[in-house]
Formats: sequence, C-alpha cells, structure tokens
Amino acid sequence: MPSLADQHIVLGITGGIAAYKSAELTRRLMDHGAQVQVVMTDAAKAFIAPLTLQALSGRAVRDTLLDPSAESGMGHIEIARWADRLVVAPASADFIARLAGGMASDLLAAVCLATSAPVVLAPAMNQGMWRKSATQRNIATLKADGVTILGPASGEQACGDVGPGRMLEPGEIISHLTHSGQAKALDGTHVTITAGPTWEAIDPVRGLSNHSSGKMGYAVAAAAAAAGAAVTLVSGPTALDPPPGIQYRPVRSAEEMLAAVEQDIEACDVFIGVAAVADYRPAQSENSKIKKNAESVTLELVRNPDILARVAQQQKRPFTVGFAAETDQPIAYAREKLHNKGLDLIAVNQIDEANNPFGSDQNRLVLISKNDEIDLGRDSKSALAEQLISEIAHRYHGPHSA
Ligand code: PMT
Repeated sequence: MPSLADQHIVLGITGGIAAYKSAELTRRLMDHGAQVQVVMTDAAKAFIAPLTLQALSGRAVRDTLLDPSAESGMGHIEIARWADRLVVAPASADFIARLAGGMASDLLAAVCLATSAPVVLAPAMNQGMWRKSATQRNIATLKADGVTILGPASGEQACGDVGPGRMLEPGEIISHLTHSGQAKALDGTHVTITAGPTWEAIDPVRGLSNHSSGKMGYAVAAAAAAAGAAVTLVSGPTALDPPPGIQYRPVRSAEEMLAAVEQDIEACDVFIGVAAVADYRPAQSENSKIKKNAESVTLELVRNPDILARVAQQQKRPFTVGFAAETDQPIAYAREKLHNKGLDLIAVNQIDEANNPFGSDQNRLVLISKNDEIDLGRDSKSALAEQLISEIAHRYHGPHSA
C-alpha cells in the first residue's frame, strides 16, 4: 500500500450530500499512515456529525474561526502551518467561489488562504451548478492559482439528475495523494485495458451480451493512469464516462474489440483483460429485424476470438493479465486459464451470495500467478484496482516481459 506516513493532512469538509464519503476518506487517510485534522464548515455539519470525524481521526474537529479557546491552542494560522497538504472533499460550489475570490470568511477558507501547502479540491455539486459558467470561471481561477482539482465524476446524482458533479470516490482521491509528486510506479509504460461487455448483434435491434457494467475495467484504467502509465481503454458498451487523461476506444463486438486492441499492441507493455467478452456470436447477423412469424428460430453461434490469448501468444508480448469470473471452483479454473492462455497474472472474482461483481461498486479479488496467490479481500473496485496496479508494477520488470 503506497504510504502517506506521518503526512499532516488537513481534510476540509463543506456542505453537500457527498460529505458522507468524508468519513471513509478520513479512515483511508489514517490507514495510509497520515495524521488528519478535520476542518468543517457550518453547512457540512448539517450532513455529517463532527463526532464521527473526531472518532475516526482521533482529533477534535475544528469549525470556528473566531474561537478564543481554539485560537490559544491551534488557531487558523497554526493549522495552515501544520498542513503538509490540504484536501477539501467535498468542495461545494459556494466554497469554490469563496476560495476563488480569496475570501477568508470561515475557518476552512482562512486556512486555505493562509497555507503554503498544496491545496487539492474534490468538487461535488448538482450538474447544473457545475456546468454554470460562474463555477467554471472559479475553477479556472483556482487552477491558475495552483490548486489541484480532482474530478468531479459523472453519473447519477442524489437529486436525480445525471451528469458531472459527483465527488470522486475516497479511493480515487487517496490514489492521487499517494502518487502525486513521487516517481510513479508505471511511468513510461503503455497499458492497454479491455473493459465492459461485448454486444454480439443478432439483428439491428437484438443481440447477445452480459451484465458487465465496465466499473472494474474503468477503475483499473484510472489506477493505471494515476500510476503514470499511458493508458488505452478499449471498452464495450457501458453507461460510464471514461476516466480523464486516457485514450478511449469504444467498441461493440468481440471482433471490434480485438481489432482495437491490435491497433497498437506492439507498443503495449502491460495488457489487462477485464472485459467480459462473449465467447460466441451469431454465425450471421441479419441486416433487418427478424420477424416473429416462425414458431421457433434456431440461432447458430460461432466461437469468438480469444483476445487475451491472442495477446499472450504474441512473440514480443506484453506483461499479460487476465480476469476470471467463475461460480464453481474459481481458483482451480483460474489456474487453468493462467496456464492455458499463457498469462503472467490472473485476477479471480469471488462470486457467491455475498459478492456479485457484475455491476456492483464492490468486488472481492484473488490474484494468482505461477508462483503465488494473494487474496486482496473485499473492497471498492477503485481500491482493488489500485492494489492490482501496484502488484503489476511490482512484477513488471521491463518492456515486453517474456
Ligand atoms: O464490469 P463490471 O460490472 O465491473 O464487472 C467486472 C467483471 C466481473 C466483468 C470483471 O471483473 C471480470 O471478471 N471480467 C472477466 C470475466 C469473464 O468473462 O471471464 P472469462 O472467464 O470469460 O474470460 C477470462 C479472461 O479472458 C478475461 O480476462 C477476458 O477478458 C478474456 N477473454 C475471454 C474471452 C474472449 N473471447 N476474449 C478474452 O479476451
């Protein structure tokens, strides 16, 4: 686990529904060895109790600018000096506006203004508020002032809207904090990742597919990019926005996925097959919608190319990582795949009543290589992706490992 050992992190929390994620963020920062001082705005306290953050951080939460008792202890200038980094998550539209305007109207804004430590904001707000030109102007001002902006992510919002404005997950924020400013584990490497399902057309309106949402593969792509890799994400149809800063190749069928993978496979150092690729496709895809006149229809299926095996079989092949989703004897079948497909590593999803990885934000993974087996446990897909990438970086000893 990359370390934040003994780093002093001031975690600012402003008012928004995403404030509930700050409890998890505090816990994760502590797990990474950081010392955390939480500073809350008044609005934040409407969403999460200071006592929760105090219990998790082991420090009294600070929330008042003109507090005589606190000022005699750790006042706003002391907090600003104590910080190695200042992270505001969630950062509301109002807080962003105040910061961009250089205001010091509450303790958190005053600490941000006074500190010389790097400031990182994870915005969270309604998509309309995020898109407003006033907010975009404020963000541009803060970026020009050297503030790092993480996210926001896109997706369904608490208010029912869909669009950009979701706070990044705690794992993604931690990933940024652990990797920024350091030499990164995958600097200089090119990583290609497949994700999502494939769609095998029967006719223009029907097809064969599966329940893969793409969440696992997109999380792996984000973690690889955060580790410094140049990432190509080849994705079947999903409802997700691609992570920022990567090359994105949307495809539909397994054959299209193979063609997209082969485009620059020679430049690829690490290949990670997370996609749930359909093993079979209809022998023939009709150009017009099939009419329902007949009592029964027989569909002939033919085998799809095995993209992962093709990559692994190349003479000058990348470090090749597969995924396996099996309901029965997953470890035994995964070992078989590792061997038969000639992989360096395979990540096995544990599928049971407690863990269905398809579509979920959580997963449970076991990594298997020829020589070892590591249980990564159950966690968010972003945290697991980070661990997977760190294991790959550790095992990858140079271009095109044989
Ligand atoms: O997308 P999510 O909802 O987040 O769910 C994640 C996931 C469960 C889809 C993912 O974690 C996962 O396990 N993906 C692989 C699932 C799978 O179908 O495995 P498989 O046993 O069919 O294939 C084994 C490996 O070969 C995989 O790396 C697969 O990408 C690859 N493969 C399989 C068939 C094929 N024709 N070409 C391939 O490249």
